[in-house]
Amino acid sequence: MTEQEVKQRIDRLISEIDTHNYSYYVLDNPTISDYDFDILLKELESLEKQYPQFKQPHSPTQRVGGQSAKSFGTVVHKEPLLSLGNTYSLSEIEDFDKRVRELANGVPFDYVCELKYDGLSISLEYEDGLLMRAVTRGDGTKGDDVTSNIRTIKSIPLKLHGNFPKHFIIRGEVIMPHKSFNKLNAQREKLGLELFANPRNAASGSLKLLDSRLVAKRGLDCFLYFLISDEITQPLHSERLKIAAQWGFKTGNYYRVCGGLQNIFKYIDVWDKKRKSLPFDTDGVVIKVNQVDLWAKLGFTAKFPRWAIAYKFKAERVSTLLESVDFQVGRTGRVTPVANLKPVSLSGTTVKRATLNSEGFIREMDIRVGDTVFVEKGGEIIPKIVGVDTALRPLHTPPFRFIENCPECGALLQKEDDEELHFCPDSLHCPPQIKGLLSHFVSRKAMDIFSLGDERIELLYNSGKVRNIADFYDLKYNDLFLLGSPVVADLFSQEEPLTAGKKQSVLKEKSVENILDGIEKSKNVPFEKVLYAMGIRYVGEVTAKYLARYFGSIERLQQASINELMNVNEVGERIAAAVVDFFANKENIAIVERLKKHGLKMEIVSDKSNNMQRGALYGLKFVVSGVFSISRDEIKRQIEDGGGIILSAISAKTNYVLAGENMGPKKKKKAETLGVPVISEQEFFSKFVKS
Ligand code: IVH
Repeated sequence: MTEQEVKQRIDRLISEIDTHNYSYYVLDNPTISDYDFDILLKELESLEKQYPQFKQPHSPTQRVGGQSAKSFGTVVHKEPLLSLGNTYSLSEIEDFDKRVRELANGVPFDYVCELKYDGLSISLEYEDGLLMRAVTRGDGTKGDDVTSNIRTIKSIPLKLHGNFPKHFIIRGEVIMPHKSFNKLNAQREKLGLELFANPRNAASGSLKLLDSRLVAKRGLDCFLYFLISDEITQPLHSERLKIAAQWGFKTGNYYRVCGGLQNIFKYIDVWDKKRKSLPFDTDGVVIKVNQVDLWAKLGFTAKFPRWAIAYKFKAERVSTLLESVDFQVGRTGRVTPVANLKPVSLSGTTVKRATLNSEGFIREMDIRVGDTVFVEKGGEIIPKIVGVDTALRPLHTPPFRFIENCPECGALLQKEDDEELHFCPDSLHCPPQIKGLLSHFVSRKAMDIFSLGDERIELLYNSGKVRNIADFYDLKYNDLFLLGSPVVADLFSQEEPLTAGKKQSVLKEKSVENILDGIEKSKNVPFEKVLYAMGIRYVGEVTAKYLARYFGSIERLQQASINELMNVNEVGERIAAAVVDFFANKENIAIVERLKKHGLKMEIVSDKSNNMQRGALYGLKFVVSGVFSISRDEIKRQIEDGGGIILSAISAKTNYVLAGENMGPKKKKKAETLGVPVISEQEFFSKFVKS
């Protein structure tokens, strides 16, 4: 291809990929298979790599910046980000309508009703059709520049199509759909991290992350609802939403033009019911005057525009008796108090249980067994206790006391240092924690034994055949065959066992073979994944990779001190201590020994072709600091691909400090003191990455 042809192909690919992204993320109507989409994306990536001069900032490959920011810049909003007056009452909407009619003084108008998306507001600025800046609401006059995080949201166009104004601002709401929210909390639970209470908090927490690569994994979405530009001639807000959709924005198809109060009430009524089946949270309805030139005439109150109002859905609240409290032990060992309530009907379902979160939550509300409590559906999903009717408290009701021992295994509970959360520390003997670890061990990113799902893990555990991760490798055909039969008679009858409605879980020949085959194959899983699979507290996939590469083998990792561990990229005191604790336990050592005997990979197997090609980097320890002409991530990848190791802090063991622009003076001084050579990006490439 000539350079001209390459450029044309890149432009073509960008536009094709953008169109497919638009169909998938905005219209919710995929037009290409994942496989074919990946082929297009890979072709684009490869052309951009070969011809960096044609790389464009709005290319779909450039959604993730790949560099962690230290903090967000502050930006003053060109137009303040206003909030709306809120109401829970239909009669206040009547008052609102009356006021608007008076001020409109006979000029005809109508309204647009929209969903009130439950997320956080964002202001996007476009110049010549390209996304230039994204700013959070902040205090309304200035907010955080979160452009690199916003770029990762696939439904937000980086480049517009059609006939758009040269410069404009569009505002909307960043939300986390239920699917992403549930996935995120499931992951956090596995890692023993505190769960997000609702999708709004999760969306807000995600946008605050300083590393856009993490934000990209959070599955955020964004609805746009307010266009600001002097260059737009459309006189109606509803038409502005329509043209914004034509440029590529997700405006949602939920808004409706409503002539008057009756239509507004109907819209509210319809969505108060239908919202429960939406794939995201909405907490109300926003009612806006449709005629934009009336907005200026209607003006503002001290705080809010007079041309719009937000109606908030009422969370249905009921009161009932708190009969008792159970304590549930999760797969990470966290102990959660759960209220057993006198069954009560709430938003169409019967509620018998509600989470009490933690000891602190119970103490703050002074909730006691025997109390009459108020229950709401929090975030529309999980019922929660929102208050106590103390007037109805029986005399001499004692304050609530949290249990001291694990209800599953009896171990003395521990509290996380500064938090109010209780944990059972005996992960090796506590049944839910053992099952959690077994599931984690076989999961896709760990040993990838896909023939073992949660149901089968439960079966293996309950039958006593597998009580720790090494037991998988002792399983024989006869241990598994027909495991799970409810009664022996079923083995001989032609009828289905009495497990009506539930998937039959008896292990037959084929399943047993699949399980044994999966276990056998897992012996080829590389060391870094084995290390992740072991479930050392706080050691996630990435940390396991860094630890494996740094130490090279389980023996060396086992002997490492806290200080040495803290040399490893992304390993702080908490993780280092968890690793040391893990290997200080004799039972863990015995399990590791058994895994070793079974032939699992316990050291890094070096890829010879790679080392031969870039032999100069192999085994060298680097600290990377400052800003480079390519992303810091790319630099790190180059080092690791060549067998080099990234450290987070300079020590005597560091071979080189790779310094970009603006490297901190402290680091420079430390390198000098310890005699560690400091090399520039250019020196690095000419010395180690010869092309
Ligand atoms: S319009 C000047 N429309 O609700 C008018 N806001 O209480 C700007 N929100 O701060 C806001 N969905 O964060 C508007 N369809 C919608 C909305 C919406 C959610 C949020 C927004 C705003 C708050 C108002």
